[in-house]
Amino acid sequence: MAISLFIISIALTLTLPLTLTISTDVDLLLTTIKPSFSNNNIILTTWNTSTPLCQWKGLKWVYTNQTPLPCTNISSPHYSNLSLSKDNNIHLFSIQLPSANLSGTLPKQLADFTSLQSLYLSFNSISGRIPVELGYSASLSDIDLGHNLLSGSVPVSIWNLCDRLISIRVHGNLLSGSIPEPGVMNISCDSLIYFDFGENKFTGGFPEFVTGFKNVREVDVSGNNLELGGLSLNKLNVSYNNFSGVLPDFGGLKFGVELFEGNGELCGPPLKRCRGSSGGLGSGAVAGVVIGLMTGIVVLASVLIGYSQRKKKNRDEEDDVFEDGEEDENGADGGGDGKLIIFQGGEHLTLEDVLNATGQVMEKTNYGTTYKAKLADGGTIALRLLREGSCKDDGLWLPSVKQLGRIRHESLVPLRAFYEGKRGEKLLIYDYLPNNKTLHELLHEARPGKPVLNWARRHKIALAIAKGLAHLHSNTEAPITHGNMRSRNVLVDDFFVARLTDCGLYKLMIPAVADEILAAAKADGYKAPELQKMKHCNSRTDVYAFGILLLEILLGKKPGKTGTRDGFVDLPAVVKVAVLEETTMEVFDVEILKGIRSPMEDGLVQALKLAMGCCAPVAAVRPSMDEVVKQLEENRPRNRSALYSPAEPRSGIDTPF
Ligand SMILES: *[C@@H]1O[C@H](CO)[C@@H](O)[C@H](O)[C@H]1NC(C)=O
Ligand SMILES: *[C@@H]1O[C@H](CO)[C@@H](O)[C@H](O)[C@H]1NC(C)=O
Ligand SMILES: *[C@@H]1O[C@H](CO)[C@@H](O)[C@H](O)[C@H]1NC(C)=O
Ligand SMILES: *[C@@H]1O[C@H](CO)[C@@H](O)[C@H](O)[C@H]1NC(C)=O
Ligand SMILES: *[C@@H]1O[C@H](CO)[C@@H](O)[C@H](O)[C@H]1NC(C)=O
Ligand SMILES: *[C@@H]1O[C@H](CO)[C@@H](O)[C@H](O)[C@H]1NC(C)=O
Ligand SMILES: *[C@@H]1O[C@H](CO)[C@@H](O)[C@H](O)[C@H]1NC(C)=O
Repeated sequence: MAISLFIISIALTLTLPLTLTISTDVDLLLTTIKPSFSNNNIILTTWNTSTPLCQWKGLKWVYTNQTPLPCTNISSPHYSNLSLSKDNNIHLFSIQLPSANLSGTLPKQLADFTSLQSLYLSFNSISGRIPVELGYSASLSDIDLGHNLLSGSVPVSIWNLCDRLISIRVHGNLLSGSIPEPGVMNISCDSLIYFDFGENKFTGGFPEFVTGFKNVREVDVSGNNLELGGLSLNKLNVSYNNFSGVLPDFGGLKFGVELFEGNGELCGPPLKRCRGSSGGLGSGAVAGVVIGLMTGIVVLASVLIGYSQRKKKNRDEEDDVFEDGEEDENGADGGGDGKLIIFQGGEHLTLEDVLNATGQVMEKTNYGTTYKAKLADGGTIALRLLREGSCKDDGLWLPSVKQLGRIRHESLVPLRAFYEGKRGEKLLIYDYLPNNKTLHELLHEARPGKPVLNWARRHKIALAIAKGLAHLHSNTEAPITHGNMRSRNVLVDDFFVARLTDCGLYKLMIPAVADEILAAAKADGYKAPELQKMKHCNSRTDVYAFGILLLEILLGKKPGKTGTRDGFVDLPAVVKVAVLEETTMEVFDVEILKGIRSPMEDGLVQALKLAMGCCAPVAAVRPSMDEVVKQLEENRPRNRSALYSPAEPRSGIDTPF
């Protein structure tokens, strides 16, 4: 069979014009794509002719008539058909290999797959340039090359794809030069919805041509060094650029202030009014002139927090500051700047300190923004500003805040104070933990110099989280539900000491906002199936989320719904399939298996079982967090030497794993 195919190929070469692809997609994949991404990658080893085509990881196939090859049905005869890789009527449809430890470069032959529509290679370490040829691809419409190490400029040929392009994402690379403008004027790329060129090193002007794209819904050019011209769009993220001057007219559309953060001096709606100009029509506005003053990411927290606060000349804090959760009946209408409730360990904080702190945005969620804030005395705190209107009235949140302020445990980030401003804005003041990364960053963001996360370290993190959660659940006053367990809410320091943040915050929120948290948890896979309203969350739903988090730690994959973009995976389902297929050992993150001689004796298998038990669909059979702690303690990795050395960087500069 193989030999006759070879002869046919030669015959075709001799008789057909060169533009016709003569080799099958399989040949192309094995001879050009696989070697280009480094041949010995553990996932790519499944791309071999002794493995049935359906089981080649990260790929989807279609027949010439574009019907999909049915690979999802394990009992279908296609699934284990070894001859499919020789079938010339089967074509590559998509490559989806996010977080697959791919290195190497993007081969120009990617353009030769006639039916290839999606190319998802985000969160790898692919370097080099984006090949010009990519723009000559026949069917490509979804491109995500985000979070790699790509450099050079984006070839203008990419706009050849304009007519069918749905999304193009190159977020978080080292791409430079200007964002390429289509060669053809007045091009509208009617199907393009996502245009994400954020977090690169692009320079030059704002890509105004995007405004001509009719259906584009998300434009992200944040985190570059772009300058701003006139533009009008529906959704726009231009934060952290080198923009300054007067904002152009956005056609009456509303934007949040945060989308403009981290630029130079900007004024005009939705930001502050431009001085000496009426409604933003100063000399700057006319030409959309850019006055570039500063780069960088420092934002004055006072713009958001203290901007409209009256400066308090005579400090009279005693009226406004209440220690140890004490409140003052007159506090709310005392006419001051608002009230500060101090908890143990926050005694040094004063109202003035907090209001005059200058901060830098660390994280944003749907209910607020967290700042790293510098105090006048040189100290640093973490401030979480809750979105206006997101909190309950104080009669309802006060008891909860006081309860949260009393929690102290080594695995929980302590709340030191709480501030409510006159306009109802609320700030939660926590310790700032220097050099801490979120577990989400550690697990999913490929960055050079990131520490190796072997099993010993992951176990330490998992155990700390479990202990923190167990402490909340067994709180003596009244059990506390965390309510928002996720890897973004776990902070990890250089010694892999992990701490939970955002404990019980949902208790302060109005139901609508609390349910937004729940919706986010659902999208990210952490929501327990029985939980429909945030107000019903309880320790069992926390345990479910912890189970997902533990799977995330073990598998190194982002939980979520399969099929959504960016490589989110229904983790319990993946494990179930692997167990059925008897490939359980393959579900573990490759990094975790390093130095492990027996996954059984090292407690890996037990941890996987435990995690699956925690995300049991029936709440009643889930273990308690005390039980989880006990099991994790009983099944420790044997070699824990790596625990006691601080995070050494991963080996090699060009292979950040
Ligand atoms: C082919 O793939 C299978 C897994 O599907 C793997 O076990 C085997 O080692 C691979 N063979 C080669 C030669 O890479
Ligand atoms: C899977 O394939 C088998 C065998 O072809 C078939 O009987 C079954 O209905 C298929 N299941 C689904 C869900 O398509
Ligand atoms: C396996 O695939 C080949 C090529 O598509 C096909 O000719 C053959 O009938 C298939 N075998 C089975 C058992 O489905
Ligand atoms: C592009 O559109 C503008 C305004 O709609 C028009 O003035 C210009 O002639 C067009 N250019 C081309 C090359 O079609
Ligand atoms: C805008 O971009 C910045 C930097 O890339 C990001 O941190 C922020 O979350 C984005 N804002 C929105 C609302 O998408
Ligand atoms: C920011 O803009 C100013 C003026 O346009 C320019 O001089 C400066 O080099 C820019 N900074 C960066 C980092 O691009
Ligand atoms: C990632 O790939 C590199 C080679 O490109 C390899 O040396 C390393 O072991 C891989 N890491 C993992 C965790 O598989």
